[in-house]
Amino acid sequence: MELKYRALEGMHDVLPEQSHLWQYVESRWREHCRRYGYREIRTPILETAELFERSVGETSDIVSKEMYVFQRGEERYAMKPEGTAPVVRAYLEHGLYGAGGVHKLYYITPFFRGERPQRGRYRQAHQFGAEIIGAAHPLADAELLAMVMDFFLTLGLTPDTLELRLNTIGCPECRPAYREAVRNFGRENYTQLCKNCQARLERNPLRILDCKECADITHSAPPIDPYLCDACRTHFENLQNLLKTLEVTYVRDVRLVRGLDYYTRTTFEVIAEQGLGAQNALCGGGRYDGLVAELGGPPTPALGVGIGVERTLLTLQAMQAPLPEPRPIDAYVVAFGEAARPVALKLAQQLRAAQLAAELDLEARSPKAQMRLANRTGARYAILIGDAELQQQTATIKDLQTHEQTVLSQAELSEWIKNRL
Ligand code: HAM
Repeated sequence: MELKYRALEGMHDVLPEQSHLWQYVESRWREHCRRYGYREIRTPILETAELFERSVGETSDIVSKEMYVFQRGEERYAMKPEGTAPVVRAYLEHGLYGAGGVHKLYYITPFFRGERPQRGRYRQAHQFGAEIIGAAHPLADAELLAMVMDFFLTLGLTPDTLELRLNTIGCPECRPAYREAVRNFGRENYTQLCKNCQARLERNPLRILDCKECADITHSAPPIDPYLCDACRTHFENLQNLLKTLEVTYVRDVRLVRGLDYYTRTTFEVIAEQGLGAQNALCGGGRYDGLVAELGGPPTPALGVGIGVERTLLTLQAMQAPLPEPRPIDAYVVAFGEAARPVALKLAQQLRAAQLAAELDLEARSPKAQMRLANRTGARYAILIGDAELQQQTATIKDLQTHEQTVLSQAELSEWIKNRL
């Protein structure tokens, strides 16, 4: 058959062979967030394009090159290229700040970026996100980082294969002077910078620091530390002390400036040292103390993380972390002859009503073919219904592992199986 339609490049179907793995990591994320006191928030796929222009930033690669934008009537829409701005939009729209205190929100969301697809980089990908809105103290940064590392470790990744990279990029008070210093450094080394960095030197000079192509040159760029204001320096020192207390190990990466404009102070990424190739960031995040106000709300400190779901799964597989097998059904009901088929269907319903997973052949095949199907599903039991069972209202249960057979009344069937699973 010649395929007429295919999924778009960089967009993937999750087939049943894989979907149980997605369900597994999703449920682990939900449970993890619950333990840390987060509640779920779900926001739409579409937002106004302006929301991301204002937050992620017009000059960022995400907004200027990768965002899926389209116009309908007067409005310009964007498919969300990330999850933080929509959460802050919702936080403001529903007046969550009115209640005061700290809001801890988590989500699982698809997001869309028109990047060149490669291993670990897609045009529709998915993130586990967590945002803490309303907490200024470095306690919040420390808890977030510990939570993220704890998540990867509970999934079975080992500390020696993960690297938490940490930096601070200052605040609107101290960053302009630093930005100017980096811009001057870039100008002095202009001809050695890649074309991309030459272009962004004027608009977004800090981004030259995390360009892999220019790493050899920017290696000697000035570090931010002497430029930090007292408040930013103290915040960063306190955070590092808290991480020591929690025994969360990290490396300082003075070039971790992140590609989204809303960050202030703390920035971080967790790198998987094996399994991902070039796209090795499992997650990224940081503080965005100015974003709530930028989007029209009261000045509100905030911070968060986005964890790549696909990259997490790729890493778990590459590192041979324990992953669940798909759950087989409990029982397959086999009808011997036409008269038994409606009874088989009814018995399957009876099993399902008792919370058991039951299946039967929906194509009215021969008993032999049905037995083959029963074995293929991996079901523990086959329930055989023939003339004798019909007459006596019984069922013959065949244990497909031991091949043992038991005859029971149909009414007792569900209880009997439940007691043995
Ligand atoms: P981000 O670093 O752009 O941050 O994305 C977070 C994570 O999403 C990355 O570390 C990576 O694992 C995954 N990711 C990003 N792009 C792709 C892609 N094209 N294909 C597959 N996976 C990808 C943010 O999006 C921020 N909203 C994170 C955040 C939350 N900051 C504060 N709160």
